[in-house]
Amino acid sequence: MSKRKLQRFEECETFNNLFQLGYFDLLSDFRMKGNWRKDYFKNDNPIVLELGCGKGEYTVNLAIQNPSINYIGIDSKGARLWRGCRNSIDNQLDNVAFVRTHIEQIEQLFAPGEISEIWITFPDPQLRKERKRLTCPRFLKHYRNILATDSLIHLKTDNIPLYDYTLRVIRSAGHKLLFHTNDLYGDDVQDVASSIQTFYEKMFLEQGMKITYLRFRLNHIE
Ligand SMILES: C[S@@+](CC[C@H](N)C(=O)[O-])C[C@H]1O[C@@H](n2cnc3c(N)ncnc32)[C@H](O)[C@@H]1O
Repeated sequence: MSKRKLQRFEECETFNNLFQLGYFDLLSDFRMKGNWRKDYFKNDNPIVLELGCGKGEYTVNLAIQNPSINYIGIDSKGARLWRGCRNSIDNQLDNVAFVRTHIEQIEQLFAPGEISEIWITFPDPQLRKERKRLTCPRFLKHYRNILATDSLIHLKTDNIPLYDYTLRVIRSAGHKLLFHTNDLYGDDVQDVASSIQTFYEKMFLEQGMKITYLRFRLNHIE
């Protein structure tokens, strides 16, 4: 491991805005579950998640744009999260937290209805393993168990098979598709989906790839 990476891991241990939770830590509920507003953010504002946040571009930039909303970025990779934590501290953001963990354990982190919105930004497409895709029914069930009714889920991806797959999942489960485009920038969509670009997104755009985007609401009836 490089010296710089080691230094970042060490610095991660000192960040007050980062919770690093291994598999065994989340075999039972995390102490913040149901208490994030009261015990961490110290306000009653809604909480929005960015899943597979990497360097946390959505988390940080949305937090700057919307000081009265709380944001939590989740990823399993500490070196990437370091960047988001550092940027949040440098921008003096008190409406941001990051959690280093596996999204599979999300129900141990949040209580039913505690989350108001989810962004999934450039997830690994996992084309060989459907159950690992962050928009497969197994994951949507986890999200349903922590989301307030009528909450939005956003997906941005360069991966057309994942985009098409997610559209099929939404339609077959009767979730409510609110917007979709297979060419976010070609269609000149002017909203928050085009206003922030993540690390991976910039890479894909430089390679001339199209970016897809969709948003939907979960059907809360099983
Ligand atoms: C392709 S990167 C995208 C990162 C960032 N959203 C961006 O657009 O730059 C996918 C990220 O998802 C994270 N990830 C994938 N599956 C995960 C899981 N099950 N739990 C936690 N993180 C996961 C990876 O560690 C990686 O940082």
